[in-house]
Amino acid sequence: MNFQRLSELDLAGKRVFIRADFNVPFHADGTLSDDTRIRATLPAICHCLEAGAAVMITSHLGRPIEGALTPADSLAPVAAALSELLGRPVPLITNWTDGHFSVRQGEVVLLENCRGNVGEKADDPQLAARIAGSIDVYVNDAFGTAHRKECTLHALALAAPVACAGPLMTAELDALGRALAQPARPLAAIVAGSKVSTKLTILESLADKVDVLVLGGGIANTFLAARGCEVGGSLQESELLEAARRVERRLAERGGVVWLPEDVVVADRFAADADTRICDAESVPPGWMILDIGPNSRDSLAGVLARAGTIVWNGPVGVFELDAFAAGTRALAEAIAASPAYSIAGGGDTLAAIARFGVGERIDYISTGGGAFLEFLEGRELPAVAALRARARPASRRIAPVPQFEHEPELT
Ligand code: 3PG
Ligand code: MG
Repeated sequence: MNFQRLSELDLAGKRVFIRADFNVPFHADGTLSDDTRIRATLPAICHCLEAGAAVMITSHLGRPIEGALTPADSLAPVAAALSELLGRPVPLITNWTDGHFSVRQGEVVLLENCRGNVGEKADDPQLAARIAGSIDVYVNDAFGTAHRKECTLHALALAAPVACAGPLMTAELDALGRALAQPARPLAAIVAGSKVSTKLTILESLADKVDVLVLGGGIANTFLAARGCEVGGSLQESELLEAARRVERRLAERGGVVWLPEDVVVADRFAADADTRICDAESVPPGWMILDIGPNSRDSLAGVLARAGTIVWNGPVGVFELDAFAAGTRALAEAIAASPAYSIAGGGDTLAAIARFGVGERIDYISTGGGAFLEFLEGRELPAVAALRARARPASRRIAPVPQFEHEPELT
């Protein structure tokens, strides 16, 4: 993809602004429950510090009201986590959009939740111009938010003196591009989730690309019903049977297949201690619901994945949070890990499954994106990536030296 990369720029003495995605989850007591996205941004920060830049970094957190941040919206816990990971102080700066704060060469500061700034959501070019006025280099390392057209992701990338992609953004786009643009074949995609309706555009887009489309969850139930199977009381969308058939036909025209389970684990209710049995996927008894794939399906799926050249994984094939329905997703995770295929995975449920089954080390690339990962699979251009591409320059042109920032105002 054509955009400038952070590694190509001379950063010595520059004021570098990094847009990261620190939209991280918290426990009820306010402590961080997962710092993956923070750790994933360390290469960008360390690169800039080592290159002698003055480093400012910001992110959104949650969906606060602009101009009215509350303590719960604060990036303070992220500043603390960053400070510990970097082994140096990371001051948190509020009211930062006019650049009136101090950050010296070799220092890093965290700029408070950018969604607190009036104009952020609306991608306001005036806000972008104000921020751009006090930075030399803009770095987007926020792949997880690349599907949002907001000021620090889009307008600022267009307004900054220089705009480039950070190492995380670059790695994400390279990994996803490798999996979808020039995949080693067969290309298998696993798409699971409760509803066809929320993933129909992804399924349609993948029907044009993949060799095997593995379906799970309520999506698989709808496809089973579209094939004429009795799915009993399973979650399904009867108004989307024709859409499901269209996806299957499209794939078949290209010589591809939809993989659906041949046997399933069914339960008499949605509960950890429900009565369960294994039955053929085509004849689920009335009132029983499919909550996992069965043993024959686990073997058949493992065989498909062992033969794949590339695997893209989004979504579990059963209710793996409950032990009684976890075997299918465990088998899926282990089959992906064991496959010689190049594998990438993304999405909240998928990351939880990877953590639960301990296969993270054996997946080739795990995306930090949820919505952004899905929109990439849909084949949509992500606004933040579009802005970086718009700022791409011929490789031969070097950035002009930017004058040093002149005023050294107070820390707020
Ligand atoms: C995410 O966590 O999915 C991203 O950070 C985007 O957050 P948003 O859905 O609030 O825009
Ligand atoms: Mg592998």
